[in-house]
Amino acid sequence: MVRIVPSILSADFARLGEQAGEAEAAGVGEIQIDVMDGQFVPNITFGPGVVAALRPLLSLTLEVHLMIVEPERFLKTFAEAGADRLIVHQEACDDLRGTLKSILALGVHAGVTLNPETPAAAIRDAFDLVDLVQVMTVHPGFGGQEFLYDQLDKIREIRQMLEEEGLEIPIGVDGGVDSTTAPQIVDAGAHVLVAGSSIYNDHGSVAENIAELLASAQGG
Ligand code: DX5
Repeated sequence: MVRIVPSILSADFARLGEQAGEAEAAGVGEIQIDVMDGQFVPNITFGPGVVAALRPLLSLTLEVHLMIVEPERFLKTFAEAGADRLIVHQEACDDLRGTLKSILALGVHAGVTLNPETPAAAIRDAFDLVDLVQVMTVHPGFGGQEFLYDQLDKIREIRQMLEEEGLEIPIGVDGGVDSTTAPQIVDAGAHVLVAGSSIYNDHGSVAENIAELLASAQGG
């Protein structure tokens, strides 16, 4: 089943609560909050205070995508702020398994993500600790970038790795997801589509854009 996960990186920062609420009203089960520290990626966005501010307004799953160095420092803070899933970058963790275990010990879900230049093999030992493997299909830091089509092979490779281990962990994709790329992403074996600029834009309402993306992903 395809899941659309709006990323509020492209939302109107002056109306984050309202825009996140529009996504919830459109029927999505989760949104992704892109946390950036200006070090791991060349941009700065949200902190735990934004998660805490959004939490009481929403009943959907709040996923926090930690594009920060040394994420271990902030796991507890984001969990206490109300995050339901913490997604860490393989590249930012000295001890990926240790970090993922720390997330689980906080009582929240764990996800792992990897940058375009990171090979799939780098996350092979994380599968038993996560319920989401997220493939970055842009170099992280900004919304609205072009989809990196060479990552489709990585999605297929990860799907193959999971199948060989008899695991049914959802594969997510983040970056450049739109009505054109969505069908190809699903065909490659990823069903969790994180999308920012194709949902939050002037072409249509949040609900209309989500519906269009879902229809394209489902081959509609
Ligand atoms: C990484 C961010 C973006 C965002 C989605 O920089 O994680 O990928 O979520 O951005 P779009 O959908 O606009 O590419």
